[in-house]
Amino acid sequence: MIDQSTIQKIFDTAEIYEVVSDFVTLKKRGVNYLGLCPFHNEKTPSFIVSPSKGIYKCFGCGKGGNAVNFVMEVEQLSYVEALKYLAKKYSITIEERELSPSEVKKKNERESMLIVSNAASEYFQEQLNTSAGKAIALSYFKERGFRNDILEKFSLGYCSDQWDGFTKYALNKGYQKEFLVDTGLTIDSEKGLFDRFKSRVIFPIHSIAGKVIAFGGRTLKTDKKTAKYLNSPESLIYHKSRVLYGLFQAKRDIVKHDKCYLVEGYTDVLSFHQSGIENVVASSGTSLTVDQIRLIKRFSNNVTIIYDGDAAGIKASLRGIDLVLEQGLNVKVLLLPDGEDPDSFAKSRSASELLEYINEHESDFIVFKTRLLIDDTKGDPILKARLISSIVKSISIIPDSIIRSVYIKECSSLLKVDERVLYDEIRKVMGNSLAPNPQSVTEQSSNLKAITSRKYKCDVEEKMLVRYILLYGNELIFDEEGEDPVSVGAFIIEDIRADNLTSENPMFQKFFDEYNKHYRDNGFDQKRFFRDNEDSELRMLAVDILSEPYEMSKVWTRNDNDFQTEKMKLEELVVKNINEYKQKKIELMLKDIDAQIKTFESKGEFDEIRQLIQDKMMYQKVRRELAKELGNRTLF
Ligand code: CTP
Ligand code: MN
Repeated sequence: MIDQSTIQKIFDTAEIYEVVSDFVTLKKRGVNYLGLCPFHNEKTPSFIVSPSKGIYKCFGCGKGGNAVNFVMEVEQLSYVEALKYLAKKYSITIEERELSPSEVKKKNERESMLIVSNAASEYFQEQLNTSAGKAIALSYFKERGFRNDILEKFSLGYCSDQWDGFTKYALNKGYQKEFLVDTGLTIDSEKGLFDRFKSRVIFPIHSIAGKVIAFGGRTLKTDKKTAKYLNSPESLIYHKSRVLYGLFQAKRDIVKHDKCYLVEGYTDVLSFHQSGIENVVASSGTSLTVDQIRLIKRFSNNVTIIYDGDAAGIKASLRGIDLVLEQGLNVKVLLLPDGEDPDSFAKSRSASELLEYINEHESDFIVFKTRLLIDDTKGDPILKARLISSIVKSISIIPDSIIRSVYIKECSSLLKVDERVLYDEIRKVMGNSLAPNPQSVTEQSSNLKAITSRKYKCDVEEKMLVRYILLYGNELIFDEEGEDPVSVGAFIIEDIRADNLTSENPMFQKFFDEYNKHYRDNGFDQKRFFRDNEDSELRMLAVDILSEPYEMSKVWTRNDNDFQTEKMKLEELVVKNINEYKQKKIELMLKDIDAQIKTFESKGEFDEIRQLIQDKMMYQKVRRELAKELGNRTLF
């Protein structure tokens, strides 16, 4: 746990230019710096670093943020890891919060287990070079065609056929039995301690940060009695459902290509790497878990699941894929030709051949599912109805409504069912609202495009207010002649509050709430506060706005037929914007009242109607006043 003041110190010290230039060659361009974006492939630079604003921003791929975000993104680190990285760079000592005794114990246990696992991995790797290792294990890998660089990249190893070769070695080295047993490397039986992975080749499993946390061991025997793979048990450091094999080695490439291939096994991952495709991970034989999907989602939204051609379990795993859809990922599926698995298929092909095949044959999951199941219906109307409702269920869990509608179109033609029928079905499945559900909106608005796209009726007006607060919150304006000046931020936030206006868009509401909490603080710097906010949505919103090109803030004014900076016209612009916002809100409320009146009319409840009409008149009056004021203030 890093304490708050250390975090502040890190933020205050980390210079965006210095941090970025460790990774990107930057050229001075005006007050900013320009370079090739490290997050996507580009030939002409569109990656900008602004030392004065403390942010980076790519106008090609949209990525942007502060120094900490940059480190997180480029090194694929967690927030805390990125802070530690920067602390190291700037020699800031990290003040750790004091841990409770039980936390200390757990931390020590975890660390000890990691140390033991690392030592084991090194030991197993060395075993590959002993004479027995060479004769048995290395020759096995060679026979399967794996190159040395791949063996090294994945730290493959060998555990000899001695009863307790590793255990003895580790105890001799002073590692405690407790941790050998806890990691599962050693089994404590009635007949004594022995090696779990005896007589197996070893596939170490790494955490995202590259620490060895578990092992898979493959037998070299071909008899059916011995389990082909043996894996480490669940432990303090290894939670199978939260790990993807190969993610550590793949993460950079997944980000770079914005795509993740998902295969089943260890050797599939190895062979893909060997042929030159490195954005690949394995679920290690189990069906996908939500945690694994979230892991992928940290790096990309695009997944292609690659199945063996003869995979019997495809239909069973279809249900698992619904999970993936639910997380808002774009899922494609690739069936390999009969008899091939990703390992064998990649072995005989170069990267470009492999990619060409994938690109040509991968199909959209829902289309894949439809095609696969449509044969089963054999024209039976009941089976077909069942298929339709199953497909509709898959479609309905996709969070994005535009993507949903594309699928509906496609499936309507595949299933030969009218689109309207599918929409009706979806409406049934989703309950009565096709409106964006709150979860999906927060999911998507963590992406820049979604922030600027309209989802709620007042998004445009509210974003303008947010913009004024963020850019000019501390500027003073004079609202009324002869009155004391007030800051732009206070003016907006207090006006909103006075009229009890709330935002439908949770992100903007969060922004207003946070600003409201802090704007009176001494020396409050709203740009920094939001740019470095721990809430990623607020951070993205801030970076999005702070990085708008300068020209945007110039406005055309009728009065002087000249461009003036926004800052000079601030007072008028802010007031105008706030009034427009209120007008819009009132418009919406009036519409709502009309709708209510209609329902009460049909029920004949006239008391209610009378009240509503009074409300309506009140709002209409306010609307007239606002219009008058806007007329007086109109600039354009
Ligand atoms: N697996 C497992 N335990 C088993 C069998 C399989 O954990 N008894 C996992 C492993 O992660 C394995 C994956 O499921 O990599 C896929 O299994 P399989 O296709 O049988 O193995 P391959 O990866 O193809 O291994 P190989 O090519 O060496 O046969
Ligand atoms: Mn295989």
